[in-house]
Amino acid sequence: MKRVFSGIQPSGTPHIGNYLGAIKNWAAIQEEYDCIYCVVDLHAITVYQKPDILRQKTIDAIKIILAAGIDPEKSIVFVQSHIKEHSELAWILNTITPIGELERMTQFKDKAKNQKAGVSAGLLDYPVLMAADILLYNTDAVPVGEDQRQHVELSRVIARKFNNLYGETFKEPAELIRKEGARIMSLTDPTKKMSKSDEDKFGCIDLTDSPDLIREKIKKAVTDSGKEIISRPDKPAVSNLLTIYSLFSNQPIKEIETKYENKTYVEFKEGLAQVVIEGLALFQEKYAELDKNPEYVLKVIKEGADKARNLAESKMKEVKEKMGLV
Ligand code: TYM
Repeated sequence: MKRVFSGIQPSGTPHIGNYLGAIKNWAAIQEEYDCIYCVVDLHAITVYQKPDILRQKTIDAIKIILAAGIDPEKSIVFVQSHIKEHSELAWILNTITPIGELERMTQFKDKAKNQKAGVSAGLLDYPVLMAADILLYNTDAVPVGEDQRQHVELSRVIARKFNNLYGETFKEPAELIRKEGARIMSLTDPTKKMSKSDEDKFGCIDLTDSPDLIREKIKKAVTDSGKEIISRPDKPAVSNLLTIYSLFSNQPIKEIETKYENKTYVEFKEGLAQVVIEGLALFQEKYAELDKNPEYVLKVIKEGADKARNLAESKMKEVKEKMGLV
């Protein structure tokens, strides 16, 4: 079976963008691929995190992965900092990565604007650590949202460069990006992607939001001028809501447009809220169960780390031999 690797940062609370763009797909492809899913705490600290909150959010992110239907018997689920080889390989890959490649990363440019105390080397280096995550496990495919495409592309560039210098060692991974849902936009500003770091809490629907809060957020969501409920480039807000509706209900957008022809935005939003609430019900039920079972969650990450470590150690041994690190 081909190998899949992907990760999520334990910063902020995961939202329906993370779910529809990535995690839902992670669960769906478990039968088809040999999957490894990681909570990337070392990536999260490229922006300051309060220690107690980071600790809690890391466990919460594991619960999110499990509640989304990822089965730790089938897939490896672990915490990045538990496997020291990620940092070790990142250092090695740093030595062959041109700074110019890192400076042109869109996410770096966006995040650097917010680092008022000066940009850290870690923030610039973020994509190299991500390349290490991916390359360490001979990954074939990386299921991510659109915003991570550039980082996966860079991991191919880094793999190629290493292979040219030291001989065939790393596979060049491909991004696995869904056509629909790869870029879910903010509910309050459809020109911005839905983001964990958004200050405006009405922009995101978090995966753990209550039904009442989901209804309230969708009620407040911005719409476009005109009354038509249709997916079109000049209707970015309604198009985004239709995408969310379609992915939670598994109905094609065309059918939803027909269903709401001649209906109001209010009626459409009530329908959407219902579909989102129902679409998250099973997930939220499982999440609540995991909340009551912290020992189980700790057991999963310990066993996940043991499996990941075996793979990572053997790859690092190969890398060091190829490079003459004795
Ligand atoms: P993170 O934690 O920002 O997001 C986790 C996943 O959710 C996707 N995503 C979205 N998809 C659709 N619409 C949105 N609005 C939206 N926002 C986020 C992301 O694309 C991602 O797939 N750098 C990664 C974590 C990472 C990683 C890796 C991923 C570290 N190492 C190795 C893959 C492979 C990140 O920050 O994801």
